[in-house]
Amino acid sequence: MPNAKIAGIGFYVPEKVVTNFDLMKVMDTSDEWIRERSGIIERRYAKKHEETPTTMAAAATKVAAERAGIEVEEIDFIIFATLSPDYYFPGCGVLLQRELGITKTEIGALDIRNQCSGFIYALSVADQFIKAGVYKNILVVGSEMHSMGLDFSTRGRAITALFGDGAGAVIVQPTEDADKGILTTHLHSDGTHAEQLAMISPGSHGGKHLPDVDFGFPSADELGEIFVYDKLIENKSAYPQMDGQLVFKKAVTKFPEVIMEALTKTGLKKEDIDMLIPHQANLRIAQFVQKTLGLPDEKVFNNIMKYGNTTAASIPIALCEAWEGGKVKDGDLVCLAAFGSGFTWGSVLIRW
Ligand code: ACO
Repeated sequence: MPNAKIAGIGFYVPEKVVTNFDLMKVMDTSDEWIRERSGIIERRYAKKHEETPTTMAAAATKVAAERAGIEVEEIDFIIFATLSPDYYFPGCGVLLQRELGITKTEIGALDIRNQCSGFIYALSVADQFIKAGVYKNILVVGSEMHSMGLDFSTRGRAITALFGDGAGAVIVQPTEDADKGILTTHLHSDGTHAEQLAMISPGSHGGKHLPDVDFGFPSADELGEIFVYDKLIENKSAYPQMDGQLVFKKAVTKFPEVIMEALTKTGLKKEDIDMLIPHQANLRIAQFVQKTLGLPDEKVFNNIMKYGNTTAASIPIALCEAWEGGKVKDGDLVCLAAFGSGFTWGSVLIRW
């Protein structure tokens, strides 16, 4: 049975830089508040009407394919993770296939809706397909355009300040080298708190699942005509909502847990990790996880300061930057880990 290895990696972030000071022009916030609570200094926003999650994913893919030494036409399966798709349906997988011009081979395209852990889930699906010998060049991509769907009034500041746009892509191929590639993947979920980090509309819920706690969503009555979009904007249900403190508490528990699970499964120790790439949710969360695991600064890679939280794109962007900067080298033990909306979380251990 072959192992799955990352044969090429690329990322794309839009040119437009939006600093905390830029956000202060449209909402009541401060550079100090955002930096202190999240570590974020600036983020990128895509060009409306020109860039989309699909076009950004295509740009990242072209770099990844070139580095893997393949033409995009050789990609035989697409797995696309995003929470901010171009369309409600169809998903971005087929749009990316078209954008890349992969029209002759009629390959499969799968969309993953696991938010912050979307890339981990997508990579683990690719791992299984490669191990089973089904595909030879799987494109796994995470891409987000949050800037289209955030509340830029002061009402939305706790969330809007955290998110940015961008895309990251990898080409996953088989390798006969048993010591290389993806060593193990671990996926988890707990839907108990599904609405505590969520954007509930547009959707077909009609208010049914809304819990009896106030974390920002309108009541079922206030939801009213659920498919009238203006009303969804007015009552906030078409914007993301988050119980930040609950997310923080869960994240700092589940990150170390799922990293330790991967190490235990492979008989490795914390000290064996050469580079931890955590989902870039919030610098404070990453620092907490680093401290819990007792890892030195040079073994944890963070770039949330420059890009904010790019959800499904954050891990491949960070992994790519770490690799480009020489911080991920041949033979290194790399750990990827994520936690987010759902709640869902997971980890992947890779021998690079
Ligand atoms: N600028 C200025 N003030 C703000 C802002 C802002 N952008 N956002 C909120 N505030 C205010 C609030 O209104 C509140 O004011 P009040 O005391 O007058 O009511 C005050 O700051 C404190 O608000 P809290 O929500 O209690 O702030 P908290 O200290 O919990 O920090 C944060 C919020 C940063 C979201 C924190 O809870 C956190 O780090 N949570 C983790 C969640 C996270 O990082 N999510 C990322 C996305 S999810 C993921 O990727 C897993």
